Amino acid sequence: MATLETNKPSPAHGQLLEKARQFLPGGTLGMFGLPAELTFVPAYGRGCKLYDVDGNEYIDYLLGSGPLILGHAHPAVVEAVKRQAEKASTFYFVNEPAIELAELIVSAVPCAEKVRFCSSGNEATFFAMRLARAFTRREKVLKFEGGFHGVHDYAILSMGSVAPYSPVPRVESAGIPAGASDTVMIAPFNDVETTTALIEENHGELAAVIVEPFQRSYPPKPGFLAFLREITSKYGIKLIFDEVVTGFRFSWGGAQGHYGVTPDLSTFGKIVGGGYPLAVVAGKADVMDLCDNGRKGQPDYTYLTGTLSGNPVAAVAGLATLKELKGKNLYPRIHELTNRMRDGLKQMFAEAGVVAQVTGEGGVLQVVFTDREIVNYQDILSGDKAKAVAFYTTAARQGLFMSVPDKIYISPIHTDEEIEQTLKAFRVGLEAIC
Ligand SMILES: Cc1ncc(COP(=O)(O)O)c(C=O)c1O
Repeated sequence: MATLETNKPSPAHGQLLEKARQFLPGGTLGMFGLPAELTFVPAYGRGCKLYDVDGNEYIDYLLGSGPLILGHAHPAVVEAVKRQAEKASTFYFVNEPAIELAELIVSAVPCAEKVRFCSSGNEATFFAMRLARAFTRREKVLKFEGGFHGVHDYAILSMGSVAPYSPVPRVESAGIPAGASDTVMIAPFNDVETTTALIEENHGELAAVIVEPFQRSYPPKPGFLAFLREITSKYGIKLIFDEVVTGFRFSWGGAQGHYGVTPDLSTFGKIVGGGYPLAVVAGKADVMDLCDNGRKGQPDYTYLTGTLSGNPVAAVAGLATLKELKGKNLYPRIHELTNRMRDGLKQMFAEAGVVAQVTGEGGVLQVVFTDREIVNYQDILSGDKAKAVAFYTTAARQGLFMSVPDKIYISPIHTDEEIEQTLKAFRVGLEAIC
């Protein structure tokens, strides 16, 4: 792993970056970007290594923002995709890989009796909320402050701004009609008292509670998910676990398997498409059947469809990924590596006398410079952001590819040596802030 401290992009690389700035708003593909000094154009990846167009090597802790749990260009995934691409790229029709993937998901996920495919996690949470509204004939949705469910009008609320908690959603994007945000209310994650009060006051209007069972990088307190299960059942509210990150990562049964609480509906993305565009709404048959075409014309028929839904190329990539995870039982390794990285970071901070939290589990970790235990979004906000940016940026310059300063994805294809190399890079990061 060469340090990138002194590397300057080649003229051709510089031109590509310049074109990106010219033709893409902000020079990016979406909300993810890196400080200018860390930005590069990737060319290819192998396992957990990524190479830019100049041939510089990075250890990848972004992993496509989570889908690449087997790393880049895993042979089983590549082979499956090649074979399918030669047969057909899409049908807009039920197909063998989609049927097989649906069966596998139902066999793995506790809440899944039926699934509907779509192409992104964003769509999946939008569809899950619609199904819950259709089933309950209520309009409102409760989400948690700082929880991310994509960027549609009901999701990108109270997600990332620097403000005190409020039950009224903070609208953090332009272009969202009041009608959408008026139907969403916000609770603090892990706060039983406030959540109970909001649900008890509004249960007659509440269609769903949507939650990341492990929110961003911090776990539920013991009993919090069971509490959500109980109170939503009591009032006939649909409980949606957004498992776009945790699905097939925390365990074969996702976070619901890991924490032992079964929701009514669940959304999956990232891993389930093996690095290709595929996502899933899964749930009990009574709710899922609302999108059965046989119901068309009935008042509760619910539209959930898309041109590429159940795309066979993405489905074979997902199948190959899931079979590898299950066949090799890679879950203990994910937890072992995550624990090793967390312990290493914690020890480093303790030895340096630096106050920091290393939050996360199951392949997801984040460093936050605060003395507060991280249980909700306000605890994340209490972190020293400037310090985190300096720490992560300096570490990244040693040859790490990751979000700055956010969570990192650890996967079973990271080796023990790479974890050690990474801790060394973080040590350099630590020196920059001491
Ligand atoms: C928990 C969660 N839900 C939904 C989404 C949206 O998924 P996508 O980016 O595939 O639209 C994300 C994306 O990171 C996510 O982390």
